[in-house]
Amino acid sequence: MAKGDRIDPWSSDQSTDYERIVDQFGLDTVDASSLPNPGMLHRRGIVFAHRDLDVVVGCMGRSDPFGVLTGLMPSGRMHLGHSMVIDQVRWFQEQGADITVTVADLEALATRGTSLSKGRETAISEYVHNYAALGLDPSSTNVYFQSSRPEVQRLAFTLGRRTNLSEFESIYGFGGETNLAHVQAPLVQVGDIIHPQLDEFGGLRPIVVPVGIDQDPHLRLTRDIAQKTNWFNVKPRKSGGLTVALSVQADNSTLLGLNQDGSVDRESRDSLFQRMEDGVRGLGFSDLSANPKHGTLEVPAATLADRSEIRMAMLALERELGGMGLMPPCSTYHRFAVGMTGDKMSSSRPETTIFMDDEIDEMSKKVKRAFSGGQPTVEEHRRLGGDPSKDVAFQYLQFFFEEDDSVLEDIRRDYESGKLLAGEVKQICIDGAAEWLNELKEKRDQWEGRLDEFLAADAT
Ligand code: TRP
Repeated sequence: MAKGDRIDPWSSDQSTDYERIVDQFGLDTVDASSLPNPGMLHRRGIVFAHRDLDVVVGCMGRSDPFGVLTGLMPSGRMHLGHSMVIDQVRWFQEQGADITVTVADLEALATRGTSLSKGRETAISEYVHNYAALGLDPSSTNVYFQSSRPEVQRLAFTLGRRTNLSEFESIYGFGGETNLAHVQAPLVQVGDIIHPQLDEFGGLRPIVVPVGIDQDPHLRLTRDIAQKTNWFNVKPRKSGGLTVALSVQADNSTLLGLNQDGSVDRESRDSLFQRMEDGVRGLGFSDLSANPKHGTLEVPAATLADRSEIRMAMLALERELGGMGLMPPCSTYHRFAVGMTGDKMSSSRPETTIFMDDEIDEMSKKVKRAFSGGQPTVEEHRRLGGDPSKDVAFQYLQFFFEEDDSVLEDIRRDYESGKLLAGEVKQICIDGAAEWLNELKEKRDQWEGRLDEFLAADAT
């Protein structure tokens, strides 16, 4: 991490000390065996952490609706690193999610000086085209632009009231010299992440945001702001079960049964509690203990696993009463693939990665030069074996090009034992990458001229 303990989302230099990050920022780790049909990135531990992933896994189990929100910076060329998020998005889509794709054209303007028209062109020709080729299903995918979706900007502004400059200073390291467009970018991203829950965009349902760890500051900010707006908090009860507690704020106090002088208005508080109890009973809980005066409703039989459904019921009630009823987003985090040179992957250094439209001989040159985990001489290699954890070609097979777990394990075993030489692993990687790139190109050709199918009405 560039500066101290902070994650800087705009730096290309990200920490890969994942254990520490999980610890420091209170992430949960992913257990692939608890997922239905785990994808390749889950089975191999590449998606390593999450926030509230169990909420969307619950939706999958009940066939309840849930959505994915992902975003792209329309600058530079799309490369392997970018495809990891899309692999995750595709997996969620296969499990029933609807997909919203943000083109972060305002952010690219603010932080990289990319004009909106250039951003638009790059987004479609470079990113949307490859997303299509990677297999996203257009019937449940909607691509939009930050600059042309007023609801997102309205949320950015409205929710901006729930944070301040000191918080931005501590999350992002902003200071007096930070330009104000850059300061607005995270708030627009909060709007991106929250807006699929609005009634016009699919309504109240869990939204999961698959990202690299560099984006976690935005998720922490969004979750924090969403929680601050909530009228009802659902918390674990000391003696077991859950408690729903009112969160009285300036703009909801009358609706939550308080008089101007701060005393409780028994009649309106009681009728509010009636509706809260109805909401919780609707989920099958009958043993409730209500304390309208204190503003708490206890559900002793509820477990932590029931929390998200109770929370959903209370958010629905909040919306009926005129509140925003916003659910904090869920998120998943993938490890960064190592750059081909053995250090960071970066689009500004083409030798560190494979671009989606690299020619086969370009790719093959890069793989041949890639950092290897082999021994200096064949003789030593046969004796000591290679180190797959350092070998770029092996890791690219693991992350991108070899879907069959047992084939990958055979390669690992033979490489570690010295049976396979580094050059041979590189050749396997080149063959896999060539097939992958050729197939992608073929799919891109098929989508040529049809990308409008992916664009939302406000993006065409
Ligand atoms: N900030 C992201 C990036 O740098 C782009 C982005 C904008 C985004 N809005 C988003 C990512 C919402 C995920 C969700 O790449």
